[in-house]
Amino acid sequence: MDNKLIELINEKTPIVELVSEFVSLQKAGKNYRGLCPFHQEKTPSFFVSPEKNICKCYGCGEGGSPINFYRKIKNISFQEAAEELAEKAGVKIEKTERQKDPYESFYQLMQEVKEFYKFNLKNSENGQKALDYLYKRELSDEIINHFDIGYAPEHSDALYKLLNDKGYQVSDMIKLGVVKQKDDGSYYDLFSNRIIFPITNAKGSVVGFSGRTLNPKDTIKYVNSPETVIFKKGQLLYHFNEALSEIRKNKQVVLYEGFFDVISSYKAGIKHGVATMGTALTFDQVKLIKQFTDSIIIAYDGDDAGVKATLQAIHLLEKVRLKTEILTIPEKMDPDEFIKAYGDEKFEILFGEYVKDPYQFRYGVYKKGKDLSNANDITTFKNQVLEMLSYADPAIQNLYKSRLAKDLNVTADAFEIKTKKQPPIPQNEVIPKKEVHKISNKFEKAERYLIYAMLRSKQDASHIQARLKTSDFVDHIQSTIRILIDSYYKEHDQLNLEEFLDSLTSEQRAFAQSELFKDIMWEKQLDIDITEVEHYISLVKTANLMRRKTYVKATLEKEEYKNNILLQEFKMLANLK
Ligand code: CTP
Ligand code: MN
Repeated sequence: MDNKLIELINEKTPIVELVSEFVSLQKAGKNYRGLCPFHQEKTPSFFVSPEKNICKCYGCGEGGSPINFYRKIKNISFQEAAEELAEKAGVKIEKTERQKDPYESFYQLMQEVKEFYKFNLKNSENGQKALDYLYKRELSDEIINHFDIGYAPEHSDALYKLLNDKGYQVSDMIKLGVVKQKDDGSYYDLFSNRIIFPITNAKGSVVGFSGRTLNPKDTIKYVNSPETVIFKKGQLLYHFNEALSEIRKNKQVVLYEGFFDVISSYKAGIKHGVATMGTALTFDQVKLIKQFTDSIIIAYDGDDAGVKATLQAIHLLEKVRLKTEILTIPEKMDPDEFIKAYGDEKFEILFGEYVKDPYQFRYGVYKKGKDLSNANDITTFKNQVLEMLSYADPAIQNLYKSRLAKDLNVTADAFEIKTKKQPPIPQNEVIPKKEVHKISNKFEKAERYLIYAMLRSKQDASHIQARLKTSDFVDHIQSTIRILIDSYYKEHDQLNLEEFLDSLTSEQRAFAQSELFKDIMWEKQLDIDITEVEHYISLVKTANLMRRKTYVKATLEKEEYKNNILLQEFKMLANLK
């Protein structure tokens, strides 16, 4: 999509109307203002200027053009936001296949399925029974709508027929696990007589379903969609996309074990809840969370299984350095049961009073049920606590040493903690890794300046590509970004920065934002002329030669100066400064 088209879409999208879909605005002089949807605040600092057709929060800095606002609030890509707004504004654009999500047709199919189940909940005899069940569990129509809850009719092929009539391929229905084939060749719907919870991905597309039985005697409480190309339980969190704006506002996410916990908590006013779906928390899920917030409250069930799962989750969250708190629910209840028993307000109070840090929580768990006059129990307890402390800050270590000393009736110096380093964040790390190689500031900066020039001008980019090999850049992220810029220009005459950033992986994007854009020229949008470009090119070349020199020297020393070819090369490199 070129810059002109992007400008046109922005122009044709009145910002006030767009923002009003998400924020309630009041007139303030020429502008409008409201509570910022991107962070929590009590006095409105989110301003919308109809004149400039932009918005901005003076508190957190978020905002921008209509496309920019829209992509952020919906958590979609720049391309997707531009396409959606173009459609709304009646601007004609060509959707290229490359940019389209390859699973778009699958999402469409799943959306149909969702609508079918929703319709059945409200418009069928058995659906009425399901609805009554939901009412009995104190869900209102509003809540049922928010969660898009539906009902799947019993022993039916109605869904299959509907999808067939709408022209969907039966192979796709089977691939997505909503329809199955019988031995006699006929087709039937997977979900039968169940309450249906649609599950969306982080962008809000429906990717799977979970169906709860209405019959308390049923041995299978939930039936889930099978794992498919778009439904991978370990990478998804229930209600994540729907909770996103609340997660942003609260700068925090609450993690539950079950659908009903998320729903009851939402009902009680705590709307930034999400849930895993019957599996342990995974690294992928944590990464997803970490993209939007650094703080998490684990609110798993209060039973033994819940405690065990919490310990596992803490272990994972510690690795990625997310601030973690644990909500402990009394009487071994789950959040849903607690809310039902004690009401919404008591639940909110729990968040204030029953939240523990990971050390308090684990210390309590380790101590519980142990007989501290039994030698075996003492050993186990002590080892568990010392292991927990091995990664802790010295201040925390001291605190728990004295607590342990008191509990075991010894002095604190009786314990020796083997301090361990927090293991590195597993691959595909969340936090951009600083490059480890040694490259002096001057040369590193030269690479950044060249990228800056490339991003601003296609002409400079092709000049630089002609003069420097990709491998001449030392920084591997920087050289990857160079390749990406080059391929971007193969299809565009100008580079749209937002769109380009969008095409990067989250690691590359984080790197761009923290490292690449830190120089003054970004802030001031300085012009770089061709002589400067040449200067930086020669710096990068020099840096390469110097590295070569170091290598040649080391090799020569090792081979006791017997290698004539290298000796020649070394002489040539010798006067390099
Ligand atoms: N789960 C599942 N299959 C099951 C049981 C549970 O996939 N047979 C998953 C579901 O995602 C469920 C979660 O594990 O939401 C937690 O289980 P549970 O606490 O039993 O379910 P709740 O959602 O709390 O449902 P309810 O309150 O109706 O018992
Ligand atoms: Mn439950």
